[in-house]
Amino acid sequence: MKKLLVMMKIVTLSALLMGMTVFAAGAADPKPSLSNGDCVKCHSAAPDAIAANGGAHKTQVSCQDCHAGHPPTVKKIIPACSQCHSGKAHYSLSACLRCHNNPHTPKVIKLANNITDECLTCHTPQIAKLREVKSKHSALACSFCHNVHGKIPLCTQCHKPHSSDMLVSDCKRCHQAHMPTVVAYGSDTTNKMCAACHKNAFDLHSKTDTKHKGVNCVTCHKDKHKTVPTCQACHGAPHPPRMLARFTKCGECHNIAHDLNRWETGTLKKGDVEKAETLKQSKKGSKKK
Ligand code: HEC
Ligand code: HEC
Ligand code: HEC
Ligand code: HEC
Ligand code: HEC
Ligand code: HEC
Ligand code: HEC
Ligand code: HEC
Ligand code: HEC
Ligand code: HEC
Ligand code: HEC
Ligand code: HEC
Repeated sequence: MKKLLVMMKIVTLSALLMGMTVFAAGAADPKPSLSNGDCVKCHSAAPDAIAANGGAHKTQVSCQDCHAGHPPTVKKIIPACSQCHSGKAHYSLSACLRCHNNPHTPKVIKLANNITDECLTCHTPQIAKLREVKSKHSALACSFCHNVHGKIPLCTQCHKPHSSDMLVSDCKRCHQAHMPTVVAYGSDTTNKMCAACHKNAFDLHSKTDTKHKGVNCVTCHKDKHKTVPTCQACHGAPHPPRMLARFTKCGECHNIAHDLNRWETGTLKKGDVEKAETLKQSKKGSKKK
């Protein structure tokens, strides 16, 4: 049945095209008798595709702008893309139909999962980052993550959050997709997010009854992961120089920032170095490690 239909089509076509030749010879009019309206009589896939999703190939060109003539009179009627697209780096790529699978739906793009170089004909800032800071993401193809053009993948498609209460929207607080190993964060990052990996520090800091309890992790460890502040950055020189010359590390008396030692306020009012030393000894003795 199908065969018969094709046969009929070919016969009709031959008749049509022969008619055309006769017509052309007889009336000396070279006008082809096939018009854009005729194509649909024998072809359905291309006209349907163009009607549904032809984009600029529907609005700005016609069937015959691309397919000039018709077999058997004209044998090669498949156009090269370069006939109409030239002058941009993107148009010098090879095998356009790899991605623009169907010329009748040019904006419907299918990407294989190993594409990088072709993306660079239009996007460059991302590769600059991937190259500047080498990470395991640098070894991945763009389309490994962006498997549909324009789609932004979620980090959690491929990774587990650091803790169960961390949301996918949190990833961006600390990471950038194209340079994921550079961890930088804003001042609104909560202590709990750090707790995912620093339980010890978090527990000590939450339990302390000193004023550091009211200071957030990221107020001290500012902006960039692994930044460690000096005490002096916030406190300047809180004690007499004579004392600080003798005790070079604040921690000798105050223990660590997350778990400060405490004294009665006013203990050192008179700037008594010897008294401080005694305190240091006694605190060392009483403080359990
Ligand atoms: C009378 C039926 C008929 C009409 C009308 C017709 N075609 Fe065809 N077309 C065919 C058949 C049959 C073939 C297969 C012929 C072949 O492969 O030699 C074909 C093949 C094609 C091909 C494929 C050529 C190739 O090299 O693979 C294209 C493209 C095409 N037609 C476009 C058109 C366009 C555009 C129109 C309208 C301007 C049109 N056709 C009108 C019957 C028709
Ligand atoms: C922008 C250029 C362009 C336009 C416009 C265009 N085509 Fe095509 N067409 C192509 C190209 C390129 C191919 C070859 C596709 C391939 O190699 O896979 C093709 C293939 C075809 C084929 C053969 C393969 C198939 O899909 O059956 C037919 C038939 C066809 N076109 C018909 C049409 C008809 C009918 C129209 C108008 C409704 C049209 N084309 C509009 C570029 C175009
Ligand atoms: C006969 C001329 C012609 C041919 C051949 C042609 N195109 Fe086009 N195409 C156009 C025009 C005109 C536009 C609209 C202006 C522009 O974007 O350059 C267009 C637009 C496009 C668009 C954007 C579509 C949109 O809706 O914005 C893509 C993608 C495209 N073409 C891909 C291709 C590919 C791939 C081929 C080869 C298979 C091809 N074109 C062959 C004329 C053509
Ligand atoms: C690796 C996949 C890929 C290949 C190969 C490819 N394209 Fe594209 N093309 C795209 C993507 C992705 C877009 C962006 C679509 C969008 O803007 O939505 C695009 C957009 C376009 C556009 C419209 C936007 C513009 O800048 O003009 C045209 C025209 C086009 N391509 C033509 C071509 C031609 C011609 C070839 C072959 C020389 C080709 N493409 C090869 C993926 C590809
Ligand atoms: C022909 C040019 C062209 C090519 C090639 C191209 N793109 Fe695009 N891309 C665009 C345009 C235009 C947009 C929409 C405008 C924008 O947001 O920049 C876009 C948007 C995107 C977006 C969404 C941006 C956002 O802010 O939401 C991503 C992601 C993307 N492209 C990734 C890729 C990847 C990956 C490739 C290679 C597989 C690629 N593009 C190839 C032109 C292109
Ligand atoms: C590991 C997965 C991954 C890889 C590999 C990747 N991206 Fe992305 N890309 C993303 C994610 C996730 C976002 C969203 C970032 C955001 O929202 O801050 C993004 C965002 C984008 C955007 C939107 C604008 C921007 O910069 O935020 C573009 C365009 C883009 N990527 C293109 C590319 C290109 C081109 C490549 C290859 C050179 C690439 N991507 C490689 C995951 C990836
Ligand atoms: C499509 C999958 C995919 C997506 C989406 C993705 N990644 Fe990855 N990521 C990987 C793969 C694969 C590796 C390498 C894993 C390995 O080798 O152990 C990796 C590694 C990493 C690494 C370790 C890098 C290194 O060099 O040590 C970090 C950090 C990372 N990803 C963060 C993110 C963040 C944050 C997002 C979202 C912005 C994200 N990833 C999105 C696939 C993905
Ligand atoms: C509070 C900051 C912060 C947030 C929020 C964050 N990360 Fe991380 N992430 C880090 C730090 C810091 C490292 C690096 C640890 C190291 O140096 O080994 C890291 C490492 C990674 C790694 C590398 C492998 C590993 O587990 O060490 C992946 C993958 C990763 N993060 C994914 C994510 C994802 C997905 C999200 C969102 C759900 C996210 N991160 C949210 C700080 C954060
Ligand atoms: C994904 C796990 C992870 C997250 C989340 C994380 N870190 Fe880290 N952090 C690490 C690892 C791993 C190290 C290195 C430990 C080592 O070298 O012993 C580290 C080291 C540190 C150091 C010590 C630097 C040094 O030189 O001693 C500080 C300070 C630090 N992190 C603060 C933070 C803060 C503040 C947050 C929250 C904004 C945070 N971290 C979130 C994994 C993480
Ligand atoms: C980012 C700034 C910052 C850094 C760095 C910092 N502190 Fe503080 N510290 C504060 C703030 C804010 C207070 C509370 C001040 C107030 O409320 O009067 C405080 C209070 C204190 C107090 C009084 C505690 C109390 O409960 O009365 C001591 C002691 C102290 N800091 C010692 C240190 C030592 C030792 C270091 C280094 C290990 C250090 N600080 C690092 C900001 C900082
Ligand atoms: C008041 C400032 C301050 C606050 C608040 C603070 N830190 Fe620290 N942190 C420091 C200082 C200073 C050091 C260096 C050790 C020292 O001298 O106490 C340090 C050391 C660290 C270290 C490396 C040594 C260790 O203990 O493992 C990590 C990790 C760390 N902090 C994480 C955190 C986390 C997580 C928080 C929030 C729960 C936090 N810090 C809150 C100042 C602070
Ligand atoms: C020899 C022990 C010793 C050393 C070393 C020491 N301190 Fe103190 N510090 C004390 C004592 C005891 C107090 C309580 C005195 C008081 O309340 O007036 C105190 C109080 C403080 C206070 C709270 C002051 C207030 O007004 O509440 C800060 C802040 C402080 N020290 C910071 C530092 C810093 C920063 C260093 C290092 C540069 C440091 N200390 C070194 C013993 C010491």
